[in-house]
Amino acid sequence: MSEGEKVFKDPVHGYIYVRDPVIWDLINTREMQRLRRIRQLGTTYFAYPGGDHSRFSHSLGVYEVIRQMIQAFDRNGYAWPHDYDRLVMVAGLLHDVGHAPFSHALERLMQRRHEWWSVAVIEDESTEVHQVLESVEAGFAKAVAAVIAKEFPSSLAVSLVSGQLDADRLDYLMRDSLATGVDYGKFDLARIIRVLQPVDGRLVVRQSALHTVEAYLLARYFMYWQVYFHPVSRAGEVLLRGILERARNLVLSGKPLVLPHPALLAFLRGEATLDQYLALDDTILYAAFAVWQRDEDVVLSDLCQRFLHRRLFKEIPWSARASEWMETLKARVAAYGYDPQYYCVVDETSTVYYDYYLGRDREPSHNEAIWLYDKRSGKLTEVSSVSLPIQAIAQEHRPLRRIYVPEEVWRDQEVEEIMRRDDEANG
Ligand code: NI
Repeated sequence: MSEGEKVFKDPVHGYIYVRDPVIWDLINTREMQRLRRIRQLGTTYFAYPGGDHSRFSHSLGVYEVIRQMIQAFDRNGYAWPHDYDRLVMVAGLLHDVGHAPFSHALERLMQRRHEWWSVAVIEDESTEVHQVLESVEAGFAKAVAAVIAKEFPSSLAVSLVSGQLDADRLDYLMRDSLATGVDYGKFDLARIIRVLQPVDGRLVVRQSALHTVEAYLLARYFMYWQVYFHPVSRAGEVLLRGILERARNLVLSGKPLVLPHPALLAFLRGEATLDQYLALDDTILYAAFAVWQRDEDVVLSDLCQRFLHRRLFKEIPWSARASEWMETLKARVAAYGYDPQYYCVVDETSTVYYDYYLGRDREPSHNEAIWLYDKRSGKLTEVSSVSLPIQAIAQEHRPLRRIYVPEEVWRDQEVEEIMRRDDEANG
């Protein structure tokens, strides 16, 4: 790299500053550049048109948050082991480098999660990322992978990249809220960075910042309900999964299928090598869908048309009585000529907004909880023990289930009747 500082303009942080040539070289690897072609929020753009930003900008953002955290430690005079500076900034930059096309939407179809692929990209000798890392010093790639896999010996270093108040969450909540235009997701990022403090090998929060932490956790809670679990966004994901399941079944049954990229075949067969996996991105899948929308298989072509032209399925709320009417619903779906396997889909998702609360009967690990630090007494207090709002959202982790069917089935009189009766029974 030529000398001097590189700067990116960014909607969340204003500017992202790169001074370390290693960071700059990593940004310019083909594996990092691939993230420009992967949507951060998968199918969320069906619900929020602005929510089609890339995983590349998020990755830069995570790096920048970590850089700012370290800078804030110095400004506040906190003890931080500077030996870890480059390690944690690099880990932040690379934490999502193994993401599949459409981010999380495909994960259920894959044998491995994106964290596994991220570690593979970092450790495999064939990647440009690995080569840049090993040019720093032998074994650096392993150390970076260990931070991302949460296996690095210093839990302080790990907590900047993954913990309850990590740079990843801080960046994606702000970025996704800004991109979608959902105001509930905002919180005071600059202040959170300012009140974080390394104490005895863990990252804690200054006592006076309780309400800043509350606002952050509530923002997270709202973002899940407003954006990440949005029924329209999930409807897009249901179609995406249906298309790939259908394509996989066709391939496995030996049916010829036009594939715009050879790596797609290995992926559908569940035997993609790292190289083949990295060949895939959103654009390859769109190309496949554009071809498949005219495939002679009616299920595949119909699902692709629906995805490309946003003819999404409609949502029927799950209920405790669903087992009583599920067969009737499937029969109605079949009556319209649809195969219930692809056209009557139960979608299930869940998360926890804050992983720890005092109602549990075991001690939380350091990174599971958010700790308030009283400078005078040196005492640490877990946040939900002093905050009713945090207690309330910490205890809420109901799984969210929905059933998706084509719109004409959803409008079908018999189906409307099922939903009406179910509603009544629920009071
Ligand atoms: Ni991330």
